[in-house]
Amino acid sequence: MKKFFIVTLLLPFALFFLNANAADYVGAKKCKACHIKQFKSWEKTTMSTSFENLKAGVKTEEKKKAGLDTNKDYSTDNGCLKCHTTGYGKPGSYPENQKFVGVQCEGCHGPGSNYLEIMKKNKEFKLADAKKAGLIIPSEDEKGCIVCHGGDSPFTEKVDVKYKFNFKEKLKNTHEKFPLKYQH
Ligand code: HEC
Ligand code: HEC
Ligand code: HEC
Ligand code: HEC
Repeated sequence: MKKFFIVTLLLPFALFFLNANAADYVGAKKCKACHIKQFKSWEKTTMSTSFENLKAGVKTEEKKKAGLDTNKDYSTDNGCLKCHTTGYGKPGSYPENQKFVGVQCEGCHGPGSNYLEIMKKNKEFKLADAKKAGLIIPSEDEKGCIVCHGGDSPFTEKVDVKYKFNFKEKLKNTHEKFPLKYQH
């Protein structure tokens, strides 16, 4: 009974500290400062423009096929935004901050405020430390992709009911990969 009392008393404090350590989304421009090659390659993919694709008059042929209204502006539609922006609904991210349009670096690598501090401090940081701070190595788990590529999208559902997310193939086209210089 006493134990239970102590736990309930401490829980709010524990939650407070956990929250204080929770990483925030910083936006692709912050990553670009140090990872210009990956940024430039990512910029050429549809992920960087996927917010524009929600607007009226864009991708009309594709939208028609999926049974969507080609004259409708879907860029304020919550049902679409959760997959066509980064960190949707999280504090400080879209729609609070409009810079988080499209599927940015942190959509795959996790919110960056904590791990980028580690990367900043030491180029030879330990990968384990960066991961503890929230860095995701995307090839380690396809779950991170499936939240958006799982078949809930009007395109994956209606256009091609046989849509199957090919994790291995898709990993290749995220952005060009460059060899690392330092030990991690
Ligand atoms: C101040 C510079 C800096 C910033 C800002 C920065 N990084 Fe890094 N990052 C580095 C350095 C240095 C490395 C190690 C590069 C190497 O070994 O060649 C690295 C490595 C990485 C790696 C590879 C980790 C591994 O060992 O496999 C990923 C992924 C990564 N960064 C993602 C990001 C993302 C996403 C952002 C933005 C949220 C970001 N970084 C911001 C400097 C930075
Ligand atoms: C936040 C949602 C979201 C997440 C998470 C996500 N994607 Fe995507 N991805 C999209 C959307 C939306 C598009 C299509 C953009 C468009 O055409 O408007 C896309 C497109 C792509 C493309 C096509 C890029 C091109 O131009 O050819 C590849 C490849 C891809 N995703 C791979 C992945 C992989 C691999 C993961 C997991 C590591 C992942 N995605 C995680 C939403 C997401
Ligand atoms: C569950 C996540 C999810 C939701 C919700 C979602 N999308 Fe997408 N959307 C995707 C993914 C993933 C792709 C890329 C599919 C692929 O090619 O792998 C995509 C692709 C697209 C494309 C490009 C199609 C092409 O062939 O070039 C358009 C346009 C689009 N979505 C519009 C919308 C609209 C409008 C809504 C809301 C009515 C919406 N999406 C809701 C995940 C989603
Ligand atoms: C759709 C998912 C996805 C997005 C978005 C994405 N990455 Fe990556 N990134 C990957 C994958 C996959 C790898 C390969 C590492 C692994 O998973 O094994 C990778 C690797 C890296 C690496 C390690 C070095 C290299 O080139 O392999 C860096 C640095 C990096 N990404 C930075 C970025 C930055 C900066 C952005 C935004 C401009 C970004 N990534 C956007 C999936 C993504």
